[in-house]
Amino acid sequence: MSWQEFGCVVHQKLGKFMKLVLGSDHAGFELKNALSAWLLDLGHQIYDVGGFSEERVDYPEFGAELGRVVAAGEAEFGIAVCGSDLGICMAANKIQGIRAALIRTVEDAQLARAHNNANVACFGGRVTDASLAQEAFAVFLSTPFEGGRHADRVAQLNELT
Ligand code: RB5
Repeated sequence: MSWQEFGCVVHQKLGKFMKLVLGSDHAGFELKNALSAWLLDLGHQIYDVGGFSEERVDYPEFGAELGRVVAAGEAEFGIAVCGSDLGICMAANKIQGIRAALIRTVEDAQLARAHNNANVACFGGRVTDASLAQEAFAVFLSTPFEGGRHADRVAQLNELT
């Protein structure tokens, strides 16, 4: 069973279909579309804030917009994609209440959720292929926040302005 199929089985078993928001610049457009199609196929609700083509656009606008959607509680998690994963992650993290994490490995995804209660996963269309991004995001979605000693640290993060 592939990781994609495994992700699907996990979500169906838990009956956990989520509202997810995605955003990218031109360099993240292709990977965002691949993730979006996969997540729709799994049954999740998708809100795409753009960009909507490979025409050059600036990542701050889209990182901030998807961050606002998550911070407002209109989506449970966000996915932010630019070329490197760096710039759009910085933009999302400018929004109060957002904990956006760079995800380049499955372990990053697991730790970002378990320790940091991340609510946005950031991927780089030029550094991470779709199958690894899917595998990592399936882990991101199915990993709960551990709380405990991490809860106070995340509360401290939320206090920072
Ligand atoms: C766009 O060329 C590229 O700079 C952008 O997608 C991102 O990698 C920035 O951090």
